[in-house]
Amino acid sequence: MKIISVVGARPNFMKIAPFIHAIEKHNINASEKVEHILVHTGQHYDDRMSKNFFKALNIPDADIHLGVGSGSHAEQVGRTMIEFEKVLLSEMPDWVVVVGDVNATLACSVTAKKQHIKCCHIEAGLRSGDIKMPEEVNRLVTDRLSDLLLTPDRLSNKNLEEEGVSPKRMSFVGNIMIDTLESQREKAQTYDLNKILSSNLLEKEDDLPGIEAEKYGVITLHRPSNVDSKEVFEPIVDFVIGEVASNFQFIWPIHPRTVKQLKDFNLYDKVKASRNLILLHPIGYHEMLKLNMSAKILLTDSGGLQEECTILGTPCLTLRWNTERPVTLREHGGASVLVGNNIDRIRKEFNFTMGLERKPVRPELWDGKTAERCLLAILSY
Ligand code: UD1
Repeated sequence: MKIISVVGARPNFMKIAPFIHAIEKHNINASEKVEHILVHTGQHYDDRMSKNFFKALNIPDADIHLGVGSGSHAEQVGRTMIEFEKVLLSEMPDWVVVVGDVNATLACSVTAKKQHIKCCHIEAGLRSGDIKMPEEVNRLVTDRLSDLLLTPDRLSNKNLEEEGVSPKRMSFVGNIMIDTLESQREKAQTYDLNKILSSNLLEKEDDLPGIEAEKYGVITLHRPSNVDSKEVFEPIVDFVIGEVASNFQFIWPIHPRTVKQLKDFNLYDKVKASRNLILLHPIGYHEMLKLNMSAKILLTDSGGLQEECTILGTPCLTLRWNTERPVTLREHGGASVLVGNNIDRIRKEFNFTMGLERKPVRPELWDGKTAERCLLAILSY
């Protein structure tokens, strides 16, 4: 059997690593080996957004790079489809495996189905209900087309059933990203907090203040809905500087798109000047895991971090109005709460959440063995 799996952007790498390792393990003893080709679309191309994750997670170099780069959604998806079609025509795989909900996921599932190649979506069935999110469009199209839908939780199966998907096409396998968390948490634990800061500073600081476990928070923001308009982003920035980081240290590993927006909106200098805000480049997998493990609180709009907070138990404010990952919410036993981008609501939940203790939970089948179940589902399809 020949499988092509696809990655494009940062959140894909921690999902594909365990899948590739499951294939390697399978091939040791199997009479029928799986031939695997890894395609990187190149949506994320900076070393800190891509290459460093390959090294840290022991992912072999991609066999094929499409070199798509940045651009509008149509440009990214269009360029990926044109290049990926050539790959499919020359390789003729049995399966294309896509993960998550980024533009690569959409572009490659559509291209595969147009070539009549079977497609498997790992992390199927998540729905935010918010069609203005680019990821929601990607999820809907990918799930509509894929032959095999592998879901991270039972709510996702329910979503798919409500859309009329036959149960035969879906299998509940658990959360593949948690396989990576479980295999890497011991290593991450050995990382030194202050060394993570000093080696990733975005702006050199002569008198970098030290941090201590449970005495700092972490912020990440990159969603267009939070950072693409000054009317929304500036009040968040002012609140973070004036209230969140007024007497508590906060670490902010900044996404390239967010740096660009802060500079375009003339907000960068005041962020930089805030004494308790420590700005970092995008950081590596183990570095982020360590910061999360030892943080008092996280403020984020990232879906992946919401899930990691659930397993680690880190109290989390999710700066979104909806989530495709409801199992991570406190009302479903998780560690996070939706606060949108309304400052009064963020303030109220921030003050409450600062009083909470770390409370790890483990949703069903988030057990570190999801990748094996994914491969088995494909092999026995
Ligand atoms: C993409 C995903 C999003 C995911 C996020 C994680 C889609 C629709 N969005 O959003 O779901 O949560 O990745 O990061 O696929 N840039 C760089 N270097 C890079 C990559 C990007 O400087 O290596 C800058 C460019 O200015 C680019 C901008 O970041 O235009 C946005 O990148 P893009 O890939 O379009 O979307 P993300 O916001 O990263």
